[in-house]
Amino acid sequence: MAQQLMIANWKMNKTHDQAKDYMDILAQERLPSQVEVVICPPFTALGAVAAGAKASLSMVGAQNCSWAASGALTGEISPEMLMALTVKYVLVGHSERRSLFGESDDIVARKVQLLLQSALIPVLCLGETEQERDGNLTEEVLRRQLDAALPLTSDEASKIVIAYEPVWAIGTSRTANGEQVTAAMQLIRHYLATKYTAATAEAIPILYGGSVNLGNIASLAECPIDGALVGGASLNPQDFANLTRSFAVAKEL
Ligand code: PGA
Repeated sequence: MAQQLMIANWKMNKTHDQAKDYMDILAQERLPSQVEVVICPPFTALGAVAAGAKASLSMVGAQNCSWAASGALTGEISPEMLMALTVKYVLVGHSERRSLFGESDDIVARKVQLLLQSALIPVLCLGETEQERDGNLTEEVLRRQLDAALPLTSDEASKIVIAYEPVWAIGTSRTANGEQVTAAMQLIRHYLATKYTAATAEAIPILYGGSVNLGNIASLAECPIDGALVGGASLNPQDFANLTRSFAVAKEL
């Protein structure tokens, strides 16, 4: 079984001080030891999250990074800078980055490569828009995104995490149903097993993201997911801790 992960994506929310308060509260909660809990704050709050990570038994993640190691790239943040703040995971190709900031499949691929070279774990985000789903293009879109992002060896591929996040389910309260989630997980797992080996495909955690909350986590956990990428429902530390516990219970971890 792949490692189980619950990842909080705060997006553009919380200052340094608010992040410190969050981590103090999270440290009072009992997080399930069988699940790797990852907090992805904005860059400016990484220091506060890193300072509180050990006490709360969580890991530090970033929401983005540059595709270059260093240089004249005003406003960018490199993998080396993230590593200095004890970051372990980095989201790559989140749909908001793709649609609002013009992140192409090619840029996503470059980021995945650079992160692997830096020994950081890329969390590769994939997903179709509503229009693509309605046009029966979900499989084609997921295959294209996987093809583009994974010109990797089997060894490299076994070091990534994949998050399936249908764009129409992000921040909309419209969670994908069990059938849709299961079909996407099977498609991605099958793609990985065909391209690499069954063992590599099994080793890669595949998460679901898109309006995950306390009300739907138990039914989502019945699908073959290895965890969740959580936006809105991760902003309150007690709620997020509850969510991780509910996931562990539902998965019988
Ligand atoms: P949401 O966001 O849980 O608020 O839908 C998920 C994400 O964008 O990663």
